Amino acid sequence: MAKTSRLPGFHKVTVQERRGLVVDATGADHADIESALEAGGLSAETADKFVENVLGTYALPYGVALNVRVNGHDHVVPMVIEEPSVVAAASNAAKMVREGGGFTAESDPPLMIAQVQLREVRDAGLAVERVLAHAEELVALANEAVPGLVARGGGARSIEARILAPDVVVVHIVIDCQDAMGANLVNGIAEALSGRIAAITGARIGLRILSNLCDKRCVRVRCRVPGDVLATVEMEGDEVIDGIVNASRFAELDPYRAATHNKGIMNGIDAVVIATGNDWRAVEAGAHAFASRSGRYQPLAVWRRDGDHVVGSLEMPMALGTVGGTLRVHPAARLSLRLLGVRDAQELACIVAAVGLASNLAAVRALATDGIQRGHMGLHARSVAVAAGATGEHVEKVAAMIVEARNITLEGAMRAMAVLVSSSRGAAQSLND
Ligand code: MEV
Repeated sequence: MAKTSRLPGFHKVTVQERRGLVVDATGADHADIESALEAGGLSAETADKFVENVLGTYALPYGVALNVRVNGHDHVVPMVIEEPSVVAAASNAAKMVREGGGFTAESDPPLMIAQVQLREVRDAGLAVERVLAHAEELVALANEAVPGLVARGGGARSIEARILAPDVVVVHIVIDCQDAMGANLVNGIAEALSGRIAAITGARIGLRILSNLCDKRCVRVRCRVPGDVLATVEMEGDEVIDGIVNASRFAELDPYRAATHNKGIMNGIDAVVIATGNDWRAVEAGAHAFASRSGRYQPLAVWRRDGDHVVGSLEMPMALGTVGGTLRVHPAARLSLRLLGVRDAQELACIVAAVGLASNLAAVRALATDGIQRGHMGLHARSVAVAAGATGEHVEKVAAMIVEARNITLEGAMRAMAVLVSSSRGAAQSLND
């Protein structure tokens, strides 16, 4: 948790100054930030312990989303992402949500599913019956395989069995993974139980592996945003609400749009999942399988009008860990948890989902108003301004001038620089003379 995640002017100061502001807001140690983010936070030697055939490491930008308030607590949220605008858009949307009281979120207990497939089953109904009759014994056997997890308060909770075909049954072992993502624990239990399940059912064992459709480990987040904070120069807040509700309806009606709508959500989610050293492929797999659970691919977040407010809600599986795995070895992942100040994996899930909903709000608001290109162009204009030689406060000024003049070129930026130097008045208008 941070003292505050409202840090006005943060984007305008240098990287070093930003580190100082984050130290003040979160209580993190300055030296920890310096060392954890040095060269992307991972030496080639450490990387060599992670995966095979290592040649080196591959760095990505590490930013922080600001203004994020979840269940009354402020968080400075680390995001690792290469796409421009995502961090700024999430921060900006979180600021609007803050005006409506922030995000409210809740997370299911950390229940994962181990699957044991039975094949060549002679009587599927009887196999299911036998598995369920031995549920207590199987739960006890599973817990013997993970004494450490049981000591931390987790372990197997229940057994389920489903008929997939006349000769195929799948057994689910539901496991409370506490603060671990749980892949290794779950896979270990699936393997440990398979021999006994084969003996009970007389069937042949097929696959033994976790399911990434962890729909017992969902997170739900909601926000209620006043229309007036959504207004733009050209559009009243009420009209923007209509536009956002329309964007939601489009995604609810059309899987082609739902995929892009969800991509905007995953922009925020993946960035925080990566920053915290978690398995973003697992989160992605769970998200899209969940989005398709009705038989038609659906948006993970929807938006509705509530008087002069718009209400957004998002639900999706979220299998994250705050212990084990990458966290043990990646200093930047550990730093991320330190900055977030989360108590457990369930709280982390709530914050990650909140950033997903913020990213979605930013995207649908932009699409419902100015279109997405304007924001992107603004950022592009900053790099053009730098390329034209602008430094310090001139970067923002030159960028604003070439955006206003709709002339985002090196030549336009150089003219803007010249105009700025000679006179700061009426600059934008004269750019295209
Ligand atoms: C771009 O990375 C994400 C968006 O396409 C999401 C959306 O269309 O909702 C802007």
